[in-house]
Amino acid sequence: MPTFKPNLEQYKAFMHVISGRITTRDFDPDYQVPRDHYELILDAARHGPSGANAQPWQYIVVTDKKVKEEISNYFVGEQKRRAQLKMKFPTPNYKGLAAAPGFIVVVSDFRMVRAFPVLKDDNRNLVSSELNEMYIENAERILLQSVAASTMSAHLAAAALGYNVWWVTAIGQEEAQSEMKPLLGIPEDLSVLDIMCFGLPRKEPYKRWKKKLDQIINWNKFDSTHYMSLEQIEDWVKNERHRVMYKDAKNID
Ligand SMILES: Cc1cc2nc3c(=O)[nH]c(=O)nc-3n(C[C@H](O)[C@H](O)[C@H](O)COP(=O)(O)O)c2cc1C
Repeated sequence: MPTFKPNLEQYKAFMHVISGRITTRDFDPDYQVPRDHYELILDAARHGPSGANAQPWQYIVVTDKKVKEEISNYFVGEQKRRAQLKMKFPTPNYKGLAAAPGFIVVVSDFRMVRAFPVLKDDNRNLVSSELNEMYIENAERILLQSVAASTMSAHLAAAALGYNVWWVTAIGQEEAQSEMKPLLGIPEDLSVLDIMCFGLPRKEPYKRWKKKLDQIINWNKFDSTHYMSLEQIEDWVKNERHRVMYKDAKNID
């Protein structure tokens, strides 16, 4: 067996960044992110792995206060819509978006699924068939995992610089897309996947509950004690979810 000396010092420093990546939803609005911090953060995103090395990501740095406000207003509206639809999701206060000093919109192009295993006709058009739907669905998963891998590198880079972060999705719907794209000059064919906010927290942020290692690690085969029945999942969503999402959450029932 070749001798290998793991770099535990490096691992320790890396884990310090990993465990210090903490979400905050309330930033100090007076802080201004220097331009080179955006570059350092997105340089980390650039190194992300991706299916077929397709790198299907674009990052839009938003520094314009008005644009941030408009996006934030959209989210506040969405918050109200969800309440009306009785979705019972403990939605945070999206007003915090407008005050986020660091603001990056994550964009992808679903047409890039063509880079992954899908059926195409002679003119390279996607074949529409039941069989191909299965491949396309998987290709979309590959695309989303790729963008998430790159985005995570950006979040970790921000954490390494000492920032708190906020990963905001909730914008996949057609309506949200059509509101947001013109604001940012995003071509119709592309999709906004999420927003990355970062900055200094207004209040001391807190570390959220994480599963213990033995709750997620499975050796050689799936540990049946880790399996949750649908009933247990529903119970978790009803009774636990709000507690792990927000420290001061009220039970939403
Ligand atoms: C894919 C993904 C989507 C998320 N979407 C939202 C969101 O739409 N709104 C929000 O406030 N937080 C969102 N978050 C942040 C999570 O709520 C947060 O990461 C989680 O509660 C764990 O806290 P931590 O980041 O401090 O470890 C999202 C995180 C991820 C990774």
